Amino acid sequence: MKVILKNQKLENVTCDALIVNLFEGEKTPGGGTGAVDLALDGLIKKVIKEEDFKGKIGSTLVIRASGLISAKKIIVVGLGEKEKFDLNAIRKASAGAIRTAKREKAKTVCTILHGAGIGKIDPKDAAQIISEVSQLALYDFDKYKSKSKEELKNKIQTLMIAEIDKSKLKDIEAGIKRGNIVARAQKLARDLVTEPAIVATPTKLANVARQVAKENKLKIKVLDREACKKLGMTAFLAVAQGSEEPPKFIEIKYLPKGKPRKHVAIVGKGVTFDSGGLSLKPANSMETMKDDMSGAAAVISTMSTMKELQPDVAITMIVAATENMPSGAAYRPGDVIRAMNGKTIEILNTDAEGRVTLADAVSYVARQKPDEIIDLATLTGACVVALGDTANGVMTNNQKLADKIIKAGNETGERMWQLPLYDEDREKIKSDIADMINTGSKGKSGAQNGAVFIEKYVDDIPWVHIDIAGPSWIDKENEYGPKGPTGVGVRTLINYLTNHA
Ligand code: BES
Ligand code: ZN
Ligand code: ZN
Repeated sequence: MKVILKNQKLENVTCDALIVNLFEGEKTPGGGTGAVDLALDGLIKKVIKEEDFKGKIGSTLVIRASGLISAKKIIVVGLGEKEKFDLNAIRKASAGAIRTAKREKAKTVCTILHGAGIGKIDPKDAAQIISEVSQLALYDFDKYKSKSKEELKNKIQTLMIAEIDKSKLKDIEAGIKRGNIVARAQKLARDLVTEPAIVATPTKLANVARQVAKENKLKIKVLDREACKKLGMTAFLAVAQGSEEPPKFIEIKYLPKGKPRKHVAIVGKGVTFDSGGLSLKPANSMETMKDDMSGAAAVISTMSTMKELQPDVAITMIVAATENMPSGAAYRPGDVIRAMNGKTIEILNTDAEGRVTLADAVSYVARQKPDEIIDLATLTGACVVALGDTANGVMTNNQKLADKIIKAGNETGERMWQLPLYDEDREKIKSDIADMINTGSKGKSGAQNGAVFIEKYVDDIPWVHIDIAGPSWIDKENEYGPKGPTGVGVRTLINYLTNHA
């Protein structure tokens, strides 16, 4: 679906479906919707009453235009309560409307710019959100499904955003463009996570990263097992040793044209399948464990926007990609291993493998002395228990940086919620025979145990750990897309790197 700007009155646009809006409880449509209603001789007002349409957020009402205007059908979407109107309301409305348009088998769709009138939302933001969310809401991973010709035909080809105010056009164009870039990146992340682990292997991730680097003219390094061994990445390799799939350590670098304002490292957990290893997971917990590389997918996809977005900070992206499998060669509970920075780890549970891979990923990048390190990881089930799939867990050694990341996330609709790290939590990962254990106190502060472990490898560099285990996979569709992998983290990272870093 392509999204374009249409410098025309809503009621004059030729399309299969025309999207207009209505605040909750409104009986007489105003603004752009009012103008369309006028052209329709009050049909919208009449049907709203007849159907008792309430204007609840994202709900829709379809009306046949019967030749009265150029559009075939009108879709009225609810904006919810006027007092609560915000960017998230535009997200919900855009998703509800575009899904209805799809259900109505529309091929060309035109929409009002939600919120730019009475809602007082910046037209650029509104356009970005409409373009971004409409594409994300329609996301469908159907490559492995047999499709009927009918299904192939029923795709929305064009979404037009109609606006007549000349002074807004430039902003709307810019918003549409940015929405396209962000949506494409997030869809890439979803594709990578949705691919089964037999396809999305560490080798495949490395190849996708190479492609991304090539397209964006970025430097890339991919280290194989031997190269990692030479660098002393025994922790990462310990996790990898149980798998037949060769591990890949991936590094991509972006440099801005001018002098970089700072150097940001972004690190993604890249466990392409987490069976738990010898501390094997129960079958039902393993069902979604192809998503244990969601952090990796987010950082690789973020790098795919560099050519277009050109942030003014230097970025180093790191992914230590491996499977976590049980086998005769697998690492065992009780093993003691040494990470790249010399610190030793007593493995108590091979299912706490993410932090073990991250120990080397973070040690490696800390040597480059970046100004800040952000890691994204599907790290703990405990974080899912704490925050569900609605919010990501944020943990940090630097409150200022965390505040910026939380803001960047929340602005994009990717919710961020901070969990505290106390010295008492830091005590809990002490080992009797090594520098630390890879678990913590049983059944307590599970998300924080993971964070304080990673913290040991950041060398006091300002660092934020984002546990995305909950939002990386949803069981029920939401405004951003269908159930399954979400591609979470992409919007936050892009927003942070281009607006807040
Ligand atoms: N990949 C899992 C965490 C996870 C759980 C992600 C649910 C997404 C959904 C991670 O490697 C893991 O298994 N962590 C263990 C750690 C424990 C053994 C200390 C956990 O959370 O149970
Ligand atoms: Zn695990
Ligand atoms: Zn894992």
